[in-house]
Amino acid sequence: AGSGGDGARGLRFRPVAPNRDDKVTVPDGYTQGLVIRWGDPILRGAPKFDERRQSAKAQAGQFGYNNDFLSLLPLPGERGRQVLVANHEYTDEMLMFRGYDPENPTREQVEIAWAAHGLSVVVVEEERRSGGLTPVVQHHLNRRLTATDPFVVTGPAAGGALLRTSVDPSGRRVLGTLNNCAGGETPWGTTLHGEENFNQYFANGSSATDKRYGIGTGASERKWERFDKRFDVRQEPNESHRFGWVVELDPYDPDYTPRKRTALGRFKHEAAQPRLTDDGRPVVYMGDDERFDYFYKFVSSKRMMKGGSRAAREHNRTLLDEGTLYVAKLSGDSPAAEVDGTGKLPNDGEFDGSGVWIPLATGNTSHVPGMTAEEVYVFTRIAGDKVGATKMDRPEDVEPSPRTGRVYVALTNNSDRGKAGKPGADEANPRNLNKHGQILELAENWDDPTGDGFAWRLFLVAGDPKDPSTYFAGFPKEKVSPISCPDNVAFDPHGNLWISTDGNQLGSHDGLFGVAVHGERRGELKQFLTVPKGAETCGPVIQERRVLVAVQHPGELDGASVEKPASVWPDGPGRIVRPSVVAVWRRDGRDIGV
Ligand code: FEO
Ligand code: CA
Ligand code: CA
Ligand code: CA
Repeated sequence: AGSGGDGARGLRFRPVAPNRDDKVTVPDGYTQGLVIRWGDPILRGAPKFDERRQSAKAQAGQFGYNNDFLSLLPLPGERGRQVLVANHEYTDEMLMFRGYDPENPTREQVEIAWAAHGLSVVVVEEERRSGGLTPVVQHHLNRRLTATDPFVVTGPAAGGALLRTSVDPSGRRVLGTLNNCAGGETPWGTTLHGEENFNQYFANGSSATDKRYGIGTGASERKWERFDKRFDVRQEPNESHRFGWVVELDPYDPDYTPRKRTALGRFKHEAAQPRLTDDGRPVVYMGDDERFDYFYKFVSSKRMMKGGSRAAREHNRTLLDEGTLYVAKLSGDSPAAEVDGTGKLPNDGEFDGSGVWIPLATGNTSHVPGMTAEEVYVFTRIAGDKVGATKMDRPEDVEPSPRTGRVYVALTNNSDRGKAGKPGADEANPRNLNKHGQILELAENWDDPTGDGFAWRLFLVAGDPKDPSTYFAGFPKEKVSPISCPDNVAFDPHGNLWISTDGNQLGSHDGLFGVAVHGERRGELKQFLTVPKGAETCGPVIQERRVLVAVQHPGELDGASVEKPASVWPDGPGRIVRPSVVAVWRRDGRDIGV
């Protein structure tokens, strides 16, 4: 047992059927174990989780809430151990606090929420005779970074007038990171973390730029502005400019203050994943998760230094501070009349075309008429508007294939496409009222990631394969799993793309899927797991013998609370719902999907 299915190498498992079970369901022959849950202690002195006695101090030493991006990195010299890095995107106070009153949060609740945001670094150890992983509590690399820890701002906008506040006149030192959604791993051993929906934490927005970034004009949902005036835009108009960046962390150096890299622009950063040019310069691909927003790349002007020397490490910490930021503009190659908003393929049989990377700024030089370089970095969305970038269906995670260099952009959905007063379908976003999303495949011209032109095609148009508007790279549709709302993406060691979903619109729970991107089985999509009620599938990490997923916001359904839970995962009835990381492996100990 264990394989039970044919398919591309790495994807030979019997697909999990769509379901609404309140658990993690894995293929026949596979099993699972919890790695770590919200509230599990990781730092010295942190207590065991007790929801009735939770405190901000305890939370600051425990694994945070709503794990999203995961990275599992090697730990040379310590056998059987790896370094797990996790994002904690946001808090759901209704599911965290018994008797929570959304109109009157207490200071303690707010401070717990601050401490439950941010990032975790925790060393994990392989269990004997299983694929499970156990946290190594108090390891010297373990770390929590929260909404109140110091971060250094670097790059061309650092220190500028738009980033200065009354508390920080230097414009270079920010407290905290917020709404870390997905992320990436660099070839020089650091991790990247996108600050996504930071707007929700700020109250009383008023300017046009506040509006473009979705900062509301009234109180914020969590009312943090009552406890720290920096969250009140009226009192501290620039504080929100200090969020919405890509954060770089060195998980191997517990003394390193993480950086916010302004050269990569400010928007609702979903994720950031680099690939290297032939001469060793990083190119970072990034999406802005908003209906009708853009995707971007940053091309560094500096080459990575190889090796683990101190000098190399110091040098590589500057790679993301100098270079050029670009935004994508796409054109379809079929007549516009053939793209009717239903998802019907054009006469050439493909949604495809070409694109250009429009430069926005290089170092301190702006390429956008009417905007300074500083404005381009801090108000990158407005720069994209001015140069006529292509309005996409919510660009989520963006991942270059380590094998081919082709870039995969998850476009999760867009309920407003084609509505009155909103942009209609185009060849890259071919369905109006797009419920299920699509994945775009981008090939840089001459495979040169520093260039300004590319070809693109839709690799996958998601939904129920019985729905004629779906497309699976031309693979026979009766042989694929239904999929809806692609979000995080990752590659496995065989070069297959793995896709996790958020917000399934087909009546099933969210899940994780694998699909071949080259060879005869290109487009054969197979579901590997499903997650509990109300949850989103995040992470994911696909290693040879192990799949890791972050089960985010289990039980998050309208009207649910601690008293009226919608899910009893992972600890069973009567226990509080806890977002957790899950490892999946084969019972027979062999590699995943071979
Ligand atoms: Fe936090 Fe765009 O997902
Ligand atoms: Ca076409
Ligand atoms: Ca996401
Ligand atoms: Ca999401």
